[in-house]
Amino acid sequence: MTFSFDTGLPRKSGNAGTLLDRQPPTIIINPKRVKRSLEIMSVQGGKQVKLEFSHQVFDPTPYVAASSHRPTLCTEFGALWSGDCLELLPQIKSDTVDTVFADPPFNLGKEYGAKSNDRRDDYLDWCKRWISECVRLLKPGGSFFTYNLPKWNIPIGNYLEECGLTFRHWIAVEISACLPIPGRLHPSHYSLLYYSKGKPKTFRRIRTPIAVCRHCGKEVKDYGGHRGAMNPNGVNLKDVWTDIPPVRHKKFKSDSRKANALSTKLLDRVVEMSTHPCDMVFDPFGGSGTTFAVCERKGRHWMGIELDFADVIVERFEFDDIKNHKNDDYIEG
Ligand SMILES: C[S@@+](CC[C@H](N)C(=O)[O-])C[C@H]1O[C@@H](n2cnc3c(N)ncnc32)[C@H](O)[C@@H]1O
Repeated sequence: MTFSFDTGLPRKSGNAGTLLDRQPPTIIINPKRVKRSLEIMSVQGGKQVKLEFSHQVFDPTPYVAASSHRPTLCTEFGALWSGDCLELLPQIKSDTVDTVFADPPFNLGKEYGAKSNDRRDDYLDWCKRWISECVRLLKPGGSFFTYNLPKWNIPIGNYLEECGLTFRHWIAVEISACLPIPGRLHPSHYSLLYYSKGKPKTFRRIRTPIAVCRHCGKEVKDYGGHRGAMNPNGVNLKDVWTDIPPVRHKKFKSDSRKANALSTKLLDRVVEMSTHPCDMVFDPFGGSGTTFAVCERKGRHWMGIELDFADVIVERFEFDDIKNHKNDDYIEG
């Protein structure tokens, strides 16, 4: 395995090119050098608090086998490996991760990068291989989230049960830009499966704002006359998410990677719901690095793998110029 960045992608001008070409292969994004657009904030007991950290670089050594490959990138909170997750996952130690989040290719024949294969006859067998490894990494009580088409998440959920995980939720994430399919209902959601390894050790309640009309500002529901008794911080988060924006506008996405990326708002929820500051989140399909950027901003440790776009993730951290979607969630202690 090498750590070359020969993806053929256009590179941004600036320091990143120099950094990527430099030896040794691990790129250290020194936290003191990076202009952070946001303070690292967390919610404790319903109050926003600023977290204090020692500004060191994350050391992945305790999490990986002694013979493992060097990460491509280390930041204050996490480490990224460039390569195939099926080859790299066995190098990570068991029972080390609090939350797994996986957004794999959906087997729709999409063009990701040169090495990625999004048209597999053995798609479910391939999924079972990385899922087994991810389950092995999870600590007892850890959470497992995976995002996919409903068609795939039905057998994947079945396999997670076979692996001994416990079902928590099928979260329907509404999507607006899906084309109609002749002879079928109009597809309008993706599935976010949420399982845990035994009883979940962390589940933080999230509240979403009471819905108002975006034209007149008035509340859209009367809550059957019980409005006065409602929690002023909002309503319990439902398992149907209709408020996750698509990543369309260029300020929310990398200009070096055209393939799909998830909204920071979806990852905000996954991370806040299932972890505390300094917990460890793992994502085997890094893409443009949304999971890692959210973890870094929220003071969670993270480890991840990406086959084709590790350099795009390095750029995301170095330039720190991809905006987060607005999120008015309220997190209880
Ligand atoms: C759906 S995208 C993930 C997008 C990501 N959640 C984001 O918000 O940017 C899937 C990613 O998995 C990567 N990938 C595909 N096969 C892989 C493999 N075997 N190991 C690691 N990454 C892989 C692709 O290059 C692609 O970037």
